[in-house]
Amino acid sequence: ENEQECVGNVKQQLAKLFDASLKATFPTGPDVEPLVAACTSKFGDYQCNNAMGIFSKIRGQNTEYKKPASVGEAIVKNLPPSEMIESCSVAGPGFVNVVLSKNWIAKNIQKMLIDGIETWAPQLQVKKAVVDFSSPNIAKEMHVGHLRSTIIGDSLARMLEFSNVEVLRRNHVGDWGTQFGMLIEYLFEMFPNFEDVNETAIGDLQAFYKASKQRFDSDPAFKERAQKAVVSLQGGEPKYHKAWARICEISRKEFDKVYKCLKIQIEEKGESFYNPYIPGIIETLSEQGLVEESQGARVIFIEGVNIPLIVVKSDGGYNYASTDLTALWEDIHNDCSVATDLSVFLYRLNEEKAEWIIYVTDVGQQQHFDMVFSAAKRAGWLPADGSTYPKVSHVGFGLVLGEDGKRFRTRSSEVVRLVDLLDEAKSRSKTELIKRGKDEEWTEDELEQTVEAVGYGAVKYADLKNNRLTNYTFNFDQMLNDKGNTAVYLLYAHARICSIIRKSKKDIEELKNTDSLVLDHADERALGLHLLQFSEVVEEACSNLLPNVLCEYLYNLSENFTRFYSNCQVVGSAEETSRLLLCEATARVMRKCFHLLGIEPVYKI
Ligand code: ARG
Repeated sequence: ENEQECVGNVKQQLAKLFDASLKATFPTGPDVEPLVAACTSKFGDYQCNNAMGIFSKIRGQNTEYKKPASVGEAIVKNLPPSEMIESCSVAGPGFVNVVLSKNWIAKNIQKMLIDGIETWAPQLQVKKAVVDFSSPNIAKEMHVGHLRSTIIGDSLARMLEFSNVEVLRRNHVGDWGTQFGMLIEYLFEMFPNFEDVNETAIGDLQAFYKASKQRFDSDPAFKERAQKAVVSLQGGEPKYHKAWARICEISRKEFDKVYKCLKIQIEEKGESFYNPYIPGIIETLSEQGLVEESQGARVIFIEGVNIPLIVVKSDGGYNYASTDLTALWEDIHNDCSVATDLSVFLYRLNEEKAEWIIYVTDVGQQQHFDMVFSAAKRAGWLPADGSTYPKVSHVGFGLVLGEDGKRFRTRSSEVVRLVDLLDEAKSRSKTELIKRGKDEEWTEDELEQTVEAVGYGAVKYADLKNNRLTNYTFNFDQMLNDKGNTAVYLLYAHARICSIIRKSKKDIEELKNTDSLVLDHADERALGLHLLQFSEVVEEACSNLLPNVLCEYLYNLSENFTRFYSNCQVVGSAEETSRLLLCEATARVMRKCFHLLGIEPVYKI
């Protein structure tokens, strides 16, 4: 029975107890879900808020309850006895406040130290998910928007993976479309031996793109060749296919530099992969009667939306060989092609058997995804009410702004090269550490590792700590500050805890099995409670797809630790061993937070 009780996070365990109480108190109904939430009142650590709702349901009926508070009292009275609860009381109009037992909190933390933090992983309903993130476009700039998508998507994937969800990390690169006609033609023109051409010969692929576009716009003969090249590529002509592959390859090398810096695991399955599926999908949709003709285009009507969703805009119908082909592909293969995304969606659902498909892009693409999801619902591919699986989510995010409040740009060029940005964060953090004399104190490897952890960690954290929907201002000085809510501050806080433990010269691995953790001081208890809430915070961050929730938790954890450390002597005190265990637990939870945010911890500062 005890085992049973220990399943789930604090909130879930309390909910179970309250559920039992509600059933015992109101055996004939009303049948309600227990509403339990953490709180920060002086009355307790958690609250159950069912009394008021139940009272309004039963009032007027012939009951013994004359006011909501008496419903609360009854809920308290019928609560099954549990070692997790210290006391329970009713406040105000019927809030039931729970004070957790500090021994129970301590016991759970000690258990985590022994069994590992994986035992605190949230239990989610979903078992397999696709996270579609990063997804830059071939031969176009990989801009700060893609950086956001990369950082946010990676963190979401990490949180889901920690929660034992199988995650397919998908890089939906834009590797298809009419732009390849002009790129290929330009490649032939500039490099007749294009097969040998490498990235150094082409130099900047973005500049290459610009030059070919200029050629396309100014020379009608080139334009015609480019359009024919699209048809040849479509038709699978080897020479064209090879040229296309070469261009993708060069782009991919650029992208990989960013992924390597940021230690991003991702598998490329670009637009071209889903290409063969499109005609069939449109066919199916047509057979279902969903695709209608409207002013020469093929469209899907969506309930509640005035404008129809254009699937194929074409006078000549779906015809590969027709001269309309270019226009057709232009339409269904732009960045946000509805037909492509419908195919992508079906593949993920039917072939990859994902229960949750998550798309991480800027908020500007919200409408596109809304339409794709609505169409999928109309086709019966998704349950009409979004509450059951399979389910889809668009994770939108705001812009990255410069100091001037405008879209982020560097002084010299219009766009920021991501690799340069990351290099700068790294070199700035190096300058700072050298100023502190760490280059003398540490080995070169140690310095290099710390510099990367701090520099890249700062960029990631500055992005993740904001609610993703808001725009945020990119500022090196701010993100590399060692005070305030920054990665630097948090990484240093972790390093300091590690140094406390090192200086004690005690063997934690031994202590955790021989000595017990006690939380007698109020600041010890507060820190312990916060540690124990890690699991429900990760769960919330996963369900709402909000990494900032975890950042906030991490920052508060660090603040809780500081309060504890300034009021409770650790080394040399009578409580030394217990407090060292609390330090260790804090360091472990911090490291797990860093890990889930894609940040490497540092151990020395
Ligand atoms: N390539 C697109 C862009 O750069 C993002 C693709 C997102 N994923 C998708 N399935 N549409 O904006």
